Amino acid sequence: MGQICDTLSNDISEIIANYGKGREFLLPILNDVNIKFGHISEHTLIEISRQIDIPIGEIHGVMSFYSYLNHEKQGKYVIRLCKTISCDMANKDLIVKSLERELGIKFGETTLDGMFSLTYTNCIGMCDRGPAMLINDDVYHSLTPEKIYEIVNDIKGGKI
Ligand code: FES
Repeated sequence: MGQICDTLSNDISEIIANYGKGREFLLPILNDVNIKFGHISEHTLIEISRQIDIPIGEIHGVMSFYSYLNHEKQGKYVIRLCKTISCDMANKDLIVKSLERELGIKFGETTLDGMFSLTYTNCIGMCDRGPAMLINDDVYHSLTPEKIYEIVNDIKGGKI
């Protein structure tokens, strides 16, 4: 356990060394940690807080503002459905039901095989073509239940 902690501590030190310890670097540091580990556990947050001397509550505040910073380990494909008003009014709820049905999980969950996570995001700039979502870094818009079926099956079949 001690060795794992030392490794974590060293990994975080290396990332911080790329930026510095100022408050203005908190977001890029969190971003790099998120990329390196795929999520930012509570244990990791405590270590970051200790090393850059910023209160843990402040770091939680930043984490809650940016939906792409993950507390939990995420699936290989992270699906982020836009929950902002234009998409909401363009039948977003229908897409919620389709995604949950196709994947067999609720929003906020990850499939048991570690393939998919479902989560919400704020506006991704596709307001006139909603409902819209991201799968990792790729944008999908003008979504319908049929499109969701196709997209999910293309991923499961290795076509995407
Ligand atoms: S409101 Fe959904 S992309 Fe802008």
